[in-house]
Amino acid sequence: MSYKHTKIWNVDNWDGKEPLPPELEEAGLCISRGEAVAFPTETVYGLGADARRDTAVEQIFAAKGRPGDNPLIVHIGDRSQWHPLVSSIPDMAEKLADAFWPGPLTLIVPKSDAVSEKVTAGLDSLAVRMPEHPVARALINEAGVPVAAPSANRSGRPSPTKAEHVTYDLDGQIAGIVQGGDAGYGLESTVVDCTGEKAVILRPGGITREQLTDVLGAEHIVQADAAAEEDTPKAPGMKYRHYAPSSPLVLIEGGMQKAALAARREGKTVGIMAVDEHRRELEASADVFIPLGSKDKPAGIAAKLYDNLRAADQSGVDVIFCETFPKEGIGEAVMNRLEKAASAS
Ligand code: TXA
Ligand code: MG
Repeated sequence: MSYKHTKIWNVDNWDGKEPLPPELEEAGLCISRGEAVAFPTETVYGLGADARRDTAVEQIFAAKGRPGDNPLIVHIGDRSQWHPLVSSIPDMAEKLADAFWPGPLTLIVPKSDAVSEKVTAGLDSLAVRMPEHPVARALINEAGVPVAAPSANRSGRPSPTKAEHVTYDLDGQIAGIVQGGDAGYGLESTVVDCTGEKAVILRPGGITREQLTDVLGAEHIVQADAAAEEDTPKAPGMKYRHYAPSSPLVLIEGGMQKAALAARREGKTVGIMAVDEHRRELEASADVFIPLGSKDKPAGIAAKLYDNLRAADQSGVDVIFCETFPKEGIGEAVMNRLEKAASAS
């Protein structure tokens, strides 16, 4: 569907308390009428539509150019809303929801037949998340329906962490965009499959492995390893190209200056993405230097990562070199996204 005007509802100044701004009432009505609307969450901006209606869900896939076999996460505004959507709630899912909802955690559980088949792409399971962001929650409650929402980017682009990223990718393709400031985490939710014996981390994200381990115990959690994902992907989204910048992205674990020099000798223009602490040392080796934030503030690096990847992409350099990070805490999710971007380019 194409729209002459994608409506903008700005609720940036809303403090999350009653009364609800009229902009959110209007956006909620739009979703309940079966249209697709982008909105902020604490992870990234999502593109939401009524999860029960095929025609509504189809608009999401069409606007994003998303393959139909990649299922969507259903967002709820209140914990009680997941009962009609699922056929059972495994104990570990209940425990994780107790600990981390509302928040950046998606739980895969056995589905009921309440949501459109298009949402689950033929799987027996459903991904559910209760976001923490007050705008997201208020919008879902106002719409009064379960809201299917992938990240609000064109497929193959980095997830949007600012409303302007959504406009850049989807203007004219969707009914509207709720503008509510920058996403706080900046990376997508952690996806945990709770349908088997153990909890399987399908995608690292805002809730860290360490946090999950504290709740379930290390013996009850496994990581879907990268090789297994490629053969028989548990999270179907894993098999698609992700966040691929148009210039190749290369991760460098040491010897950044040497790598940059070699590329420049070949006549290439070079972008370097590195922490603020390395700026003085590395800036002269780059045509474009993109500071990632302080190495002492990994959450800040995560929050700006996609914006920085978009900037690197738009800088037009021939090759982008990026530093690596320790895979602990939120660093695991940061490295997961960087490795995907690097392998896809
Ligand atoms: O933070 C987030 O999760 C954001 C915000 C908007 O909530 N959403 C998001 O959605 O990242 P999306 O569609 O970009 O990523 C959802 C991931 C995909 O990798 C998809 O394959 C996987 O979740 N997924 C969805 N349903 C699934 C299921 N039933 N079983 C396994 N994986 C599933
Ligand atoms: Mg996505």
